[in-house]
Amino acid sequence: MQVKSFEEYQQAYSLSVEQPEQFWEGIANNFLWKKKWDKVLDWNFKEPKIKWFEGAKLNITENCLDRHLEKNGDTTAIIWEPNDPTEHHRILTYKQLHTKVCQFANVLKNNGAKKGDRICIYMPMVPELAIAVLACARIGAIHSVVFGGFSAQSIADRIKDAECNIVITADGGLRGTKEVPLKSIIDDALVQCPSIKKVIVLTRTRTPVSMIKGRDVWWEDEVKKVETQGNPDCPAEEMDAEDMLFILYTSGSTGKPKGVVHTCGGYMVYTGYTFSNAFQYQPGEVYFCTADIGWITGHSYIAYGPLTQGATSVMFEGIPTFPNAGRLWDIVEKFKVNILYTAPTAIRSLMSFGDDVVKGRDFSSLKKLGSVGEPINEEAWHWFDEKIGQGKCPIVDTWWQTETGGFMISPIAGVTPTKPGYATLPLPGVQPVLVDENGKVIEGNGVSGNLCIKFPWPGMLRTTYGDHERCRTTYFATYENLYFTGDGCLRDEDGYYRITGRVDDVLNVSGHRIGTAEVENAINMHSTVVESAVIGYPHDIKGQGVYAFVVCPNQHGDPELTRKDIMMTVARIIGAIAKPDKIQFVTGLPKTRSGKIMRRILRKIAEGDISNLGDTSTLLDPAVVEEIKAGAL
Ligand code: WT7
Repeated sequence: MQVKSFEEYQQAYSLSVEQPEQFWEGIANNFLWKKKWDKVLDWNFKEPKIKWFEGAKLNITENCLDRHLEKNGDTTAIIWEPNDPTEHHRILTYKQLHTKVCQFANVLKNNGAKKGDRICIYMPMVPELAIAVLACARIGAIHSVVFGGFSAQSIADRIKDAECNIVITADGGLRGTKEVPLKSIIDDALVQCPSIKKVIVLTRTRTPVSMIKGRDVWWEDEVKKVETQGNPDCPAEEMDAEDMLFILYTSGSTGKPKGVVHTCGGYMVYTGYTFSNAFQYQPGEVYFCTADIGWITGHSYIAYGPLTQGATSVMFEGIPTFPNAGRLWDIVEKFKVNILYTAPTAIRSLMSFGDDVVKGRDFSSLKKLGSVGEPINEEAWHWFDEKIGQGKCPIVDTWWQTETGGFMISPIAGVTPTKPGYATLPLPGVQPVLVDENGKVIEGNGVSGNLCIKFPWPGMLRTTYGDHERCRTTYFATYENLYFTGDGCLRDEDGYYRITGRVDDVLNVSGHRIGTAEVENAINMHSTVVESAVIGYPHDIKGQGVYAFVVCPNQHGDPELTRKDIMMTVARIIGAIAKPDKIQFVTGLPKTRSGKIMRRILRKIAEGDISNLGDTSTLLDPAVVEEIKAGAL
C-alpha cells in the first residue's frame, strides 16, 4: 500500500483520479473481508448518497486483531503510559488485546447489547477505552465516544440524540493533578436519559461512586462472570460495508453538535491506508499519537488505523506538562518512540518552557514526526524539526477533519518534499478544489479560496445521525456537487496547499473545534445575560482564544464575580474546554439595521486591530462601536 518515491506517489495519484474504483479496489484487497463487494462505488453529492464496497461483509476488529494473531500475536499492540510516571506502564500484545476485546464484547452481550445499538463511551485514556471501542465494533454496536472534558449536559444531549441504551464509563479519570469524577458526571447526565438501561463502570481512581441497583455494574465483576462462563471467544458479527461503525459529535456553525457517522468498510480501508502510507509505518516501529480517543484523531490514528496495520502504539493517559514539561520527551526516551504525532498547540506550549527541557535528550529513536489539528506556524514547525526531529525527521502536517475520517492533504514521510506551514499535496484518492464565494472553481496556482473536495473517498462521512438533511445542508449545499470543508486554503506556485483556517463561525482552540453559536447559547443561559457574541482571537499557545462580548445590564454585584459565574455556566453547559478566555461587558452589540451582528467588526476589536474597522456605514448605532473599542481587553 505504501508509495516509496515521489514518482510512485504521482503514479498512484493519477490512477486514483483516472480510475478511482480500480485504485481503491487495489487498496481494499489488502484487508480481510468475509465477502468482497459487488460494486466499489455508488455516489452522488446531491442527496448525498455515498456507498463504498457495497455488498461486502466484514468486521473491522478482525482486521485490527484476529488477522495478526497467527504471525504477530506476540507483537505489542498497545503500550500504555499512566498519568503518574511512578505507576507502572502496561503492555498489551495483539493476543492479549484480542482476548480482552472478546471478553468485554461478551460482557456487552450479557448486558443486553445487540448489533445496531448505540453505546455511549465516557472514559479516561486507559487501555480499557480502546477495548470498549473495539468490543462495540466486535458485536456490531455503534459507539459514540464522548471526550472526558465534556459536561453532563453535553453527554445527555449526545445520548438523547443517538438514543443510546448503554454507557461505559469509569469511576474517575486522572489528568495531571486533577481527578475527573466521570461516573458522577454520568449520573448527572442520566437524570435526563431514560433510554439508558445499563452503565458499566471501570475502576480507575477508586473514588467513591453511587451504583444504582439494576442499572450500574462494575466492569471487573462483569469480566469475571464471563470468565466463569468459560467461553472467552466472541465471534465477530458480520457487518455490511455500509453499516454504521460509530458516531462522533462535532461542532459546527449552528448551536447543536452534529453526530458525524462513519461506516465499517470505507473507514477501515481509508484509515489503514492513510496511516500506513503517510507515516510509512514499518513493522516493529513504535508509534506515539498524543491525542485522546475522545476525538477523531484518537479513533482513526490511535485505535483503528494503526491496529489494522499491526502497529505498536503508545497510549498516554496524562497531559504533556505533568509532572513537568519534559513528559512527552520522557515517554519518547522510555519507549524509544520512532514516530511522534502531536498538535501545534502542544508544541507551542512545550516550546515556551525553553530549551533546557529538551537539551541533552536522546531523541535518536525518532524517525518521523506528525502534526495535526490546526495550521502550524513556522516558528513551531522549525522548533519541532530542529529540537525534536534534530533535522533528520520528515514532518507530516496532516490536514483532515472529523468528517473526512482520515488524512486528506498530507505529506508522505520521506517521499513528499515538505514546506513549513504547508500540508503539501493531496493523498491519492483526494481531489481538492478551491472555489470563490460564488462557487466558481479557481484554477491554476498561486491562488486561494474555500477548500472543497469534488470526488468521494472511502473514509468520508455518510450522514449526520438522525438528520440526513442537516448533512446535506452543512456540507453539500453550499457549492453544488462539492463537499465543503469550512476551511480557507491557499495553493502556492508549486501547487502546494496551505490551510489558512476556518471560514465559518467555528473556532479552533488548542486544536479543539468549538462552534461560536454553541458558546453563545451557553453564555446566554446565564440568568443576567441578554445577549452575547463570541469571536476567536490569536492566542500564542492555543492558536485561537475565545473572546466573548456580553450584554449583561443587571449584574449581581461585582463584575469579576459575574465573569466567573458566566465561565461556570459555560463549563456546566458545554465543558471546561469552551470557557471564554476574555469576557468584555458591553451595553450593546454592533448590528446592522436588519439586526445582524457585525462579527467582522468584533473580530477586528478582539484581534486588537482597531485602527481600520472597514465599512461601518450599515451600522444601526455607531456609538456602540466606540464604547466597545474603548473597553477592549
Ligand atoms: C479542523 C477539523 C482531524 C484532525 C483533528 C481536528 C483544522 C486540522 C489541520 C492541519 C490546518 C487543520 C481545520 C479542520 N485542521 N488539521 N494540519 N492544518 N488546519 O479535527 O475537530 O474535526 O477539526 O481542524 O480547520 O477543518 P476536527
